[in-house]
Amino acid sequence: MGFLGSPSVASSYYSSSRVFLYPAAFVFWVLVLMNGAAVCNGGKTSTFVRKVEKSVDMPLDSDVFRVPPGYNAPQQVHITQGDHVGKAVIVSWVTQDEPGSDVVLYWSENCNEKKEAKGKHRTYKFYNYMSGNIHHCTLRNLKFDTKYYYEVGIGQTVRRFWFVTPPEVGPDVPYTFGLIGDLGQTFDSNRTLTHYEHNPHKGQTVLFVGDLSYADNYPNHDNVRWDTWGRFAERSVAYQPWIWTAGNHEIDFAPEIGETTPFKPFTRRYHTPYKASGSTAPFWYSIKRASAYIIVLSSYSAYGKYTPQYQWLEEELPKVNRSETPWLIVLMHSPWYNSNNYHYMEGDTMRVMFEPWFVQYKVDVVFAGHVHAYERSERVSNIVYNIVNGLCAPIRDQSAPVYINIGDGGNIEGLANNMTEPQPKYSAYREASFGHAIFDIKNRTHAHYSWHRNQDGYAVEADSLWFYNRFWHPIADSSSV
Ligand SMILES: *[C@@H]1O[C@H](CO)[C@@H](O)[C@H](O)[C@H]1NC(C)=O
Ligand SMILES: *[C@@H]1O[C@H](CO)[C@@H](O)[C@H](O)[C@H]1NC(C)=O
Ligand SMILES: *[C@@H]1O[C@H](CO)[C@@H](O)[C@H](O)[C@H]1NC(C)=O
Ligand SMILES: *[C@@H]1O[C@H](CO)[C@@H](O)[C@H](O)[C@H]1NC(C)=O
Ligand SMILES: [Fe+2]
Repeated sequence: MGFLGSPSVASSYYSSSRVFLYPAAFVFWVLVLMNGAAVCNGGKTSTFVRKVEKSVDMPLDSDVFRVPPGYNAPQQVHITQGDHVGKAVIVSWVTQDEPGSDVVLYWSENCNEKKEAKGKHRTYKFYNYMSGNIHHCTLRNLKFDTKYYYEVGIGQTVRRFWFVTPPEVGPDVPYTFGLIGDLGQTFDSNRTLTHYEHNPHKGQTVLFVGDLSYADNYPNHDNVRWDTWGRFAERSVAYQPWIWTAGNHEIDFAPEIGETTPFKPFTRRYHTPYKASGSTAPFWYSIKRASAYIIVLSSYSAYGKYTPQYQWLEEELPKVNRSETPWLIVLMHSPWYNSNNYHYMEGDTMRVMFEPWFVQYKVDVVFAGHVHAYERSERVSNIVYNIVNGLCAPIRDQSAPVYINIGDGGNIEGLANNMTEPQPKYSAYREASFGHAIFDIKNRTHAHYSWHRNQDGYAVEADSLWFYNRFWHPIADSSSV
């Protein structure tokens, strides 16, 4: 960005309160920052001024929360990948009046012969809340690249949906991922989802980086808000898989009301195909999809040496074959690199454990959430520090991933708009706005990435970048210049 663009660091909207309170101090900081920016060449802090409005949850009687009509009608329908390569789909839904059927009827577009698969259902209790019947059913041996219709609620109120399986795994298979994080269920959440649905890039699968419903913001973690979230998200996730990452709002640990099983509502409602990648817990796992290898990590499960997650990742990374899946993508909730004062450095303990592997195995990009703002890093690493050498600053590193914070879905906690100043060198672009992103893989060397504010027109790319694959085309791509 250089010197010319840098004053925006200080003159941006986020500092405006200081302008009124301490005019002299503000001028001083402008001078310091302009000076600092000239030598440190940090990235860009957007000057976009977001319309100020409080994010409130949509009321219970909102259109997006409507219960589908009919006796025992399936609701909160959602799908996710059900195996390691994309030939299986987990279908989940809730029936409220009685258990009803566990069967899913499904057929491919060009073959009318209906098949059936049978799943299981269960309920759970959370303090004084009793869930509906939560069904999960895995459809297996699907054909690649095929549109399937499926029906749930067999024998009572039948509802029909469809999905398209991914193409067979291969190095040059184009595929378009959507990125959403920290969504919640406010009017802004609805705007973000609508923007994703209308984005002309047409995401085929959502990589969701954690924090789904924010039900835990309600008294006793009112799990009714897990149900409303399920009904809200259905309009997308019943038709395309969302790949789940666990965030802190999935923990639902509430010993004060006797709820001491972490992740109870999340694990009952949202399944992941963790066994297919040799994982022993639903919070960390991997999938292949088209030309991408996606590793999901858990910021809220143990990751120290000798722990199950550590051991799994140590064995997992060498299995990634970049000739088969060139794009190595990691999802986690708590970011390693972000320059927002909110949750600053919370992800650092996991970074210390795993960052050397990410550089060694040349991860292309890491998507995280948690911080309710948008930020994209340069390719940097910070792995040479050894307690005594003092080398503890991030450096440019073409083998390192780009870190993207996409925790800006629009939840009830509002925007995180207090950033560290001056903008650190590792930060290429940052902005406190709500939105979503698209990672559009073209072939083994190129992927087009774009971030979209939920206040712009659907096609506007507020930040964008051509990603060059770290294995096949490892030249510089991340600079904000
Ligand atoms: C949510 O967004 C959809 C699609 O734009 C719209 O039809 C619906 O009325 C919105 N609901 C609320 C409560 O904002
Ligand atoms: C990696 O994938 C390629 C392409 O599918 C295949 O030819 C090769 O044998 C694989 N390598 C290993 C070590 O499995
Ligand atoms: C921004 O964060 C810093 C560091 O945590 C804190 O000292 C400061 O008070 C915050 N500013 C505002 C306006 O909240
Ligand atoms: C890969 O995609 C990029 C962007 O669309 C294109 O410029 C490039 O020519 C493609 N490479 C090959 C080998 O087709
Ligand atoms: Fe979070």
